Amino acid sequence: MMPSSITLYETYAKTIVFQKNKSKYHVKAHHPDLTICGIGRSATAFKLKEEPLVLKVFYPPYETIAEQEQHNYRKVKESSYYPTLYESGSNYLVIDYIDGRTFFQCLEEGIPILPDYVHQVDQALSYAKRQGLNPSDIHLHNLLVTKENRVHIIDIARFSQTKPCYQWNDLKAGYYKHYHRAYFPSKVPQWMMNLVASIYRATQQ
Ligand SMILES: Nc1ncnc2c1ncn2[C@@H]1O[C@H](COP(=O)(O)OP(=O)(O)O)[C@@H](O)[C@H]1O
Ligand SMILES: [Mg+2]
Repeated sequence: MMPSSITLYETYAKTIVFQKNKSKYHVKAHHPDLTICGIGRSATAFKLKEEPLVLKVFYPPYETIAEQEQHNYRKVKESSYYPTLYESGSNYLVIDYIDGRTFFQCLEEGIPILPDYVHQVDQALSYAKRQGLNPSDIHLHNLLVTKENRVHIIDIARFSQTKPCYQWNDLKAGYYKHYHRAYFPSKVPQWMMNLVASIYRATQQ
């Protein structure tokens, strides 16, 4: 039998070295064609130099998530709300690069989050439900918006979990209740968003 050929993306993925420091993973080395475009709890996302693509590489304990996430991306492949998946390996995915900001960055930089963005997220999640998925883990770092006001959802591994998730409904309720009020800060400091997120997580346990 012919050995399967190693792709360029797999070669890139193999250049990435993570180092664990306390309970966090850091990128110790990566190929010069890659630049870090986002750091998550389970993976780091790298932008490819010459192509509008992201290589998402999972940290060792989370490698099995790659399989789940690629499976979910295949289910929503007809929707432009989700990046297209081009390739996946045991510990990585190759998806469209979304040239935009996360909702977290918008709040931090004082970029308005329009009601239409909320509507687009609703549309995207309804679509995922129609494809048999259970949208979960919808938070500010996984929602992106481009300069053209197009919303995209990333990080959908947990869309195949079975337990109900109320995160998006709670986030949306918070948006309608507080976002347009005079007391809502024009720029929200990171520490404040992280504090709210950790209190929210604690109440969900
Ligand atoms: N396709 C993408 N386009 C642009 N930025 C991305 C993309 N994928 C991930 N990112 C950035 O990388 C961060 C971490 O990626 P994510 O897939 O959410 O990892 P995790 O599963 O660890 O949360 C995101 O919050 C976002 O800022
Ligand atoms: Mg994420």
